[in-house]
Formats: sequence, structure tokens, C-alpha cells
Amino acid sequence: MTTRLASTIRCSGCDYVADPDDRFPFRCPRAGTDKADHVLTRVLDPAAARFPAAPVSSSGAAANPFVRYRALMHSHHAALARGISDAAYLDLVASLDAAVAATDGRGFRATPFFRSGALSDALGFSPAGGVWVKDETRNVSGSHKGRHLMGVLIHLAVLAQAGLLDPADRPDLAIASCGNAALAAAVLARAGGWRLTVFVPPDADPAIVSRLADLRAKVVACPRPPGVPGDPAYLRLREELDRGAVPFTTQGNQNGLAIEGGLTLGYELVTDLATSPSAAGPGQLDHLVVQVGGGALASACIQALREAADLGALDRLPRVHTVQTYGAHPLEQAYERVRELLPSTADPDPDPDAVRGAMARAAANRAEFMRPWPEPPRSVATGILDDETYDWRAVVEGMLLTGGRPLVVAEDSLVTANELAVAVTGIPVDPTGSAGLGGLLEMRRRGEVGDDDRVAVLFTGARR
Ligand SMILES: Cc1ncc(COP(=O)(O)O)c(C=O)c1O
Repeated sequence: MTTRLASTIRCSGCDYVADPDDRFPFRCPRAGTDKADHVLTRVLDPAAARFPAAPVSSSGAAANPFVRYRALMHSHHAALARGISDAAYLDLVASLDAAVAATDGRGFRATPFFRSGALSDALGFSPAGGVWVKDETRNVSGSHKGRHLMGVLIHLAVLAQAGLLDPADRPDLAIASCGNAALAAAVLARAGGWRLTVFVPPDADPAIVSRLADLRAKVVACPRPPGVPGDPAYLRLREELDRGAVPFTTQGNQNGLAIEGGLTLGYELVTDLATSPSAAGPGQLDHLVVQVGGGALASACIQALREAADLGALDRLPRVHTVQTYGAHPLEQAYERVRELLPSTADPDPDPDAVRGAMARAAANRAEFMRPWPEPPRSVATGILDDETYDWRAVVEGMLLTGGRPLVVAEDSLVTANELAVAVTGIPVDPTGSAGLGGLLEMRRRGEVGDDDRVAVLFTGARR
């Protein structure tokens, strides 16, 4: 490719920049060769990027976030540079989306974002403040996870269209998950015509394993060897990737491009904040509370909001808080270790340069800051029990720069939040999906969120 691309893929942990001709710019080649935290990130060229105007119509193709926000996607930039026209790219996204709809009964559409009057009242907010809900439960395969993987699937389809993938010699896709990410991966791999291996723990939910098999995924159970820290399914995945499989994962350190697809969720928030009559204009959100497992969701939300602010589409970022459970909170521990590096450990809004300096020091020594959780974790919020927060760096930095913080939420709050969410909104969200609301309940109880504050939570997964 000779054309300058509107985005580059760079490592956040070293000075590596992916060659524009690299077909698989997923993982930093220096990852694992030193102590640093290497995650490839799509970086926009600010001179070339523009946040898309709000759509005139919110139906049809315009409602598909991979259509609406394509000008910000690396796959679109790479397609244009490889001689694939915008119209051909739109056809490609439309045909993949139709295949997803044929497999799962629904394709990708911007999901609802609204102020829940009933939840706002139940939590004692004033009419000026309240709880805004982003409802992902009716998204593809019942969660937000497909967003991450649709971005990767489009990237692979662009490669195929550009003649850069031999149809007779396509690599397999692989993922380690026993929940929403696996289900989304299986739907999308099937829709795209890719073979997929899913590594799961031996006690994976039989209903999920059966659905994966229906979708023609190869499922491999991975027992936990006694005394070995880290997730065994994740360790098996790494072996498979080293043998040449494509990481069809929702963890940025395995596939940085997976974060990019997740950005669509944050971009939709920005568009809705700017246009929804009940949102009273852009920049009006005070807090965003996000449940964190591997950290890709929170990383993507933070990056999307920051990019929108950089491009003038958002006045200011909300404080981004994260939610983990007492069962496993490796992110909160990493955050506390990074805070120790800052001049004042109590300052709620530390100096941005000091934050960036502390993050660079921490990322140079990943294992000292992000330590795998030592025991098999348990919680009602089963989707956020990752041993490690793989995308910890972006998330810790995002919390520190926005004045947010990590919440470790008690089981009774997670259960109360879920019952309340289902009862008052009628949305069949599961306890992982409503964990952000659990964090908000605790913050309200402690007086950390005011009556007039405007808070967003993400209902990320449906009950099964
Ligand atoms: C419903 C739901 N919400 C949130 C998360 C957390 O996302 P992440 O692992 O990217 O932090 C998960 C992860 O599995 C999930 O299934």
C-alpha cells in the first residue's frame, strides 16, 4: 500500500508501529519478549478523522454502527488504500450483517440509550439527574461482545476482498471463553464462514457448549492444573495462537483490533447524547459505571469517548468508574499500585502528566502491577471473573484521567441491582450485565453520586 492511512496501529507499550501491509496487526511482536505491557491500539490521524454527523435516519443501513462509524475504522482506511471503494465496503458490511442476521436472527443496529425514569426514581435522583441505560441485551447473540468481533470479521473480509487471503488456506479462528464472548464468536465465525476453536473450562455451562456446537464451533475443555496461576483456557488459547490461529478474542492484548469494534458502543453514546431530546446536549454525562472482566469493554468506552472529545463531538468526558466483585478484583489492585506512584494518593483528579508518567512506569513492568487472581473466583456476576484484567493499562489510565475509580461491589448489591433492573425496566438483563448498576447503588448509598448527577450504566448481557 502506498496511500497514507487515516489511522495507524501502534503499541501502547513500546514504539512499535504496524506496517500498513501487515495483514494481521493484532498483537505486538515484542509482547512476551520483555516485562512490558504490549497492546496494539488503533490511533486516528486527527487531520484525517471527523466524527460522523448524527444520522438523518436511524433505520436501515444507517442504523448499523459499522456503517455509521466506518470512517473511524482502520478496516475502512485499509480498504480504501487497497482500492476497495466506499460503496464496495458498504456492500461487504451489508452482506456480513445479513449473514449474521441469518445465523442469529438479528444483525447489528445501534442499541437503545435512554433515561430510565423508574430507575432514576428508585435511586432517588432529581429530575435534572438520573440513570441512563444503554441496552445491549438485544444485540447480536444477546450481549455487546459481538461488537468487538464484528470489527475483526470486517477486517478479515477486507483482506479476502483485496485478494490477501488464500481461500484454500485460511487460518482457523480461536478464542478462550465460556460465556458471551464465545457465543458471539461462534455466531460471527459461522456467519463469516470461518472455522473456530473455543477453549472452555471443564465446568462450562452445558447449554452454552451445546449452542457452540450447534454453531459448528470446535469446543475444547481445559482443566485447571493444581497450583498453576492464570486461566487454563487462556493458556491453551495462547498455544493455539502461537501455532498460527487468528485471535478471535475480545482481549486487546491478544487482538488490539477487537477494541476497535467495541468503540461503536461509546460512539453511539456520544451520538445519542448529542441528539436525544432527553439528554440535553453533548457532554452532559457526569459518570459512566462499567463492569469489568478482561477490560476490553471499559477500554473501548474510554477510547471512544476520548476520541469523540478530541474530535469535538463531546464537551467533556464523564468520570469512568469500574465494577468488579469481591470474587476477583485484579483491576482495583493494579489501580492502587499505580496510585502509589502518584505524588498524592488521595487526589481525586491527579495531574494528567503525572498519570501518564506513572502509567508508563507501570506498563514497563506489567507483572508488578497486574497480578493474576490467586484463587478460582466466584460471584453471581459470572462474566466478570477473569483472573487478569488484560486491558488494565487503558482502563486504569482512563479512571485516573477522568477522576473515576474502581469499585469492588458486594454480592448483595449485585443481586439487588439485578432484581431492580429487571423489575423496573422490564429488560431481561443478567447479573453481569447489571453489575454497573450495583456499583452505582453503592456509590449512591455512600453519597458519592449527587441527586442531580447524570449517570450511564451499560446493560451488557441478557439472561439465558
Ligand atoms: C455481559 C457482560 N458484560 C460485561 C463483560 C465484561 O467485559 P470485559 O471482559 O471486556 O471487561 C462481560 C464479559 O464477559 C460480559 O459477558
